[in-house]
Amino acid sequence: MSTSTYTLGDRSVNRMGYGAMQLAGPGVFGPPKDRDAALAVLRAAIDSGVNHIDTSDIYGPHVTNQLIREALHPYAGHLVIATKVGAERGADASWNPAFSREQLIQSVHDNLRNLGLDVLEVVNFRAMFDIGSPAEGSIEAPLTVLAELQAQGLIRHIGLSNVTAAQVAEGRRICRIACVQNLYNLVHRADDALIDDLARDGTAYVPFFPLGGFTPLQSSALSDVAARLGATPMQVALAWLLRRSPNILLIPGTSSVAHLRQNLAATELRLSDEVMTELDAIAS
Ligand SMILES: NC(=O)c1ccc[n+]([C@@H]2O[C@H](COP(=O)([O-])OP(=O)(O)OC[C@H]3O[C@@H](n4cnc5c(N)ncnc54)[C@H](OP(=O)(O)O)[C@@H]3O)[C@@H](O)[C@H]2O)c1
Repeated sequence: MSTSTYTLGDRSVNRMGYGAMQLAGPGVFGPPKDRDAALAVLRAAIDSGVNHIDTSDIYGPHVTNQLIREALHPYAGHLVIATKVGAERGADASWNPAFSREQLIQSVHDNLRNLGLDVLEVVNFRAMFDIGSPAEGSIEAPLTVLAELQAQGLIRHIGLSNVTAAQVAEGRRICRIACVQNLYNLVHRADDALIDDLARDGTAYVPFFPLGGFTPLQSSALSDVAARLGATPMQVALAWLLRRSPNILLIPGTSSVAHLRQNLAATELRLSDEVMTELDAIAS
């Protein structure tokens, strides 16, 4: 993989990272169908130069972090593991808010224990005013708790997830915001202005569902471009994100080593201005 980099917190990471959510069982709940295959994906990612992994203790819950620990601990010094707090899973696999002081402290300690770390490099506060998309609401109370845990040395950098521009501004009055992780891809472009604002002050933007998540991206224009370039549609979707803005860090998720390798190879794909215009038209 070619290795263009960007700063996350105070560390330089390759812009192509890996999102570990797909390693848990169906519906991101329970253990994977094939544990050895899940461990192999993590090891292949690191062997291929990935140095940024996105996770959360709510994946499984606990399962994904425990797989990361089993596959990769003791961690390479250059590896940045970013996790997130602010949600918890119900016994029925539901995703529920977990914003209280006690829940946030518990979640940070769950992440530390299951990842086998003394300090978490990046912790995103995942807003849950609306589970599926950013919605207004004050994040002051939960972020103040995370800032206290940061002062205690349990967290190095704080980021935000599923947030509005107003919440980013509110967060910055409480602590430094290292990154923003929202839903964004070739067809979901609500954050276009936010990405440009964050780029201007050097803040990383980490799109989740870069390939469409549970609803994989599908577009005849995307398939046409991919066929012309001798690439897959997913590779073109990732290359488009890499070219969209230099502060975008990618964390495509996969449970397959073959897909992992295809995703990493997307860093070699160069999209011309004409192709970018063609792809930009998909969202409109
Ligand atoms: N902050 C948040 O609220 C939030 C929400 C969701 C996700 N995330 C993070 O974002 C990361 C990425 O999101 P995601 O994994 O949900 O969605 P995604 O990366 O958009 O897509 C993952 C889906 O695409 C498939 N896929 C991956 N590579 C492929 C390829 N080369 N060709 C064809 N299919 C491919 C995967 O299936 P296979 O397993 O079969 O490859 C999986 O079904 C997650 O891992 C997680 O760390 C954060």
